[in-house]
Order: sequence, then structure tokens, then C-alpha cells
Amino acid sequence: MQLLTRQCADTRKRHRAARAWAGSRSCQESIIASSANRADLLNVEGVTVRFGGITALDHVSFAVPAGRIVGLIGPNGAGKTTLFNCLSRLYQFSEGDILFEGRSLQQTPAHGIASLGIGRTFQNLALFRTMSVRQNIMLGGHCRTRSGFLSNALRLPWVGREEAGLAERTDELVHLLDLESVAQTRVMDLPFGTQKRVELGRALASQPKLLLLDEPAGGLNHEEVEALMELLRAIRERLQLTMLLVEHHMNLVMRVSDQVVALDFGRVIADGTPAEVQANETVVQAYLGGVAA
Ligand SMILES: Nc1ncnc2c1ncn2[C@@H]1O[C@H](COP(=O)(O)OP(=O)(O)OP(=O)(O)O)[C@@H](O)[C@H]1O
Ligand SMILES: [Mg+2]
Repeated sequence: MQLLTRQCADTRKRHRAARAWAGSRSCQESIIASSANRADLLNVEGVTVRFGGITALDHVSFAVPAGRIVGLIGPNGAGKTTLFNCLSRLYQFSEGDILFEGRSLQQTPAHGIASLGIGRTFQNLALFRTMSVRQNIMLGGHCRTRSGFLSNALRLPWVGREEAGLAERTDELVHLLDLESVAQTRVMDLPFGTQKRVELGRALASQPKLLLLDEPAGGLNHEEVEALMELLRAIRERLQLTMLLVEHHMNLVMRVSDQVVALDFGRVIADGTPAEVQANETVVQAYLGGVAA
């Protein structure tokens, strides 16, 4: 009972931290509020990617409405990570277009994606393993700072204010993600499940409008998946983020998503509510390898 009370208090503290963090980004919230009136935050329009003879994505089209969690599912090799790599401009697509807030990403370089408002986590974690949890999360927020070599060397007053703001937001995220006890620990010394939360913190630190999550539940145990589900809901509710969630964990994806898009061999085979996609015969066949046919 005591433990339960403490957990509830911790949850309330984390929700307060999320509210404070959300408040400290009033500028971003006003952008979110304005984009919330738009029907879609992201439009993928006929995107095609070929690697030699392999067509990894074949005229893929779907939309992600602002404020929604959209699940992206499909068997191994379906093209999910390839699509994420197109969204973050790591891969070029040979046909089609991707619109973010109605603007094409074709001319945006990979290093401009985070400042545009698209954050992502990687299927194979992209963390600095010898740096601490706090340092890794703080690095994720650097795309929101203006200071460069010269302004840092001159220690201009606004540089100090910017650094203080970054440090404060980092601490709030550390708290939100329940990482306080390991904030100074090197990432490489932490269990995999905790490293995944650091990766999420690094992506959130860039203050994205759209968060791309590539298998956040991969390698997590049952309790960690349940906690992740709560965390994703809290993040969406408190920070009003739009999320595109690649996941093999069907229980998670069907419970948190508002909409699910299913890919198979690079093609969209279903797009609808979780219940509709779960009941879709083509999706069932794709997962069973045709056994159900
Ligand atoms: N850089 C690349 N070079 C060549 N082929 C690639 C490359 N990246 C992906 N592919 C191929 O594209 C197809 C889609 O791969 P992708 O990694 O996008 O699948 P996925 O849906 O993310 O699978 P998983 O669920 O296993 O992560 C596969 O056939 C893969 O081998
Ligand atoms: Mg993948």
C-alpha cells in the first residue's frame, strides 16, 4: 500500500514535470496549437525507394493527423525503417513526396530535420555510450540553441541564458522519464530498457512536433512495455505530440494508436482504426505468411 502511494505520488510529480516542461516551451506549443487546426501534420505521398533490384517502398501513401498516434506495422523487411529514414532524410526516395505541415521535405537536409520539428528514436539505439544520461539528453536539445563557436568563446549574456534553459529542460525530461537516479551514470553501464528511455529523452529534448519511434518496445520485458504504454500516453497528453510508432508489439500498438497503417513488401495493405486493421484479412495473411489463405 505504501509502495502504491509512493508510486502515485511519483506519477503525479512526473505529470507536474511534464506540465512545467510543456509550459517552458510556450513558443513551440503555439506552433502545435496552430498546426492542430490543420487536418494532417504529415503526408506521405506515393513514396518509392529502390535498393538495386529491391523495391523497399512501393508508392506508399498515408497521412498522419496532428495530435494523433499512428502505428506503422508490418512483417520484417516490410519497409518501416526505410520509411523512417526517408522521413529523416537519411535516404532519398526516387518517386513521390513527403509533406510536413504542408511543406515538401525534398529540399531539407538530414541535419535540418530536428530543427524543423521531427524527432526520432532508432531501432538500434543512437546514444553516446560513454557519456552520461543527462549529457545524452542535453545533446538532443542542442538543435534548439543558437550559440556557435564565437558566441560561446565570447560568453555573450544570452548564451548563458540559453544554456540555463537547456539545462532546466533536460532536468525536467530526466524527471519525466524517471531517470533521476541514473542521471550521471554512463549510458553503457545501464540496462537496455533504461537506455531506451534515454533514447526517448534525447528525441524529446529536440522539442519535436512529430515524434518517430522505431520499435520503442523492442527488447523490453512485460512490465517495461506496460510502463512504456503509460509513458507514451502521458507524453502525448501533456506535450500534445503527434507520433508515428513502428512496432512489432501488437498489444502495445493496438492499445495506444488512434490509427494503424500496415505495410507488406513495401506496400500499404491496410490503413484504418486498430480494430479495422486487426480484422483485415490481408494483414492477417501477411503476418501468417499466407497460412490463413
Ligand atoms: N541500406 C539498404 N541497402 C539495401 N537494402 C536495404 C537497405 N535498407 C533496407 N533495405 C532493404 O529494404 C527492405 C526493407 O527494410 P526495412 O529495414 O525498412 O524493413 P523493416 O520493416 O524496418 O523491418 P524490421 O521489422 O525487420 O525492422 C528489406 O528488404 C531490406 O533488406
Ligand atoms: Mg526496421
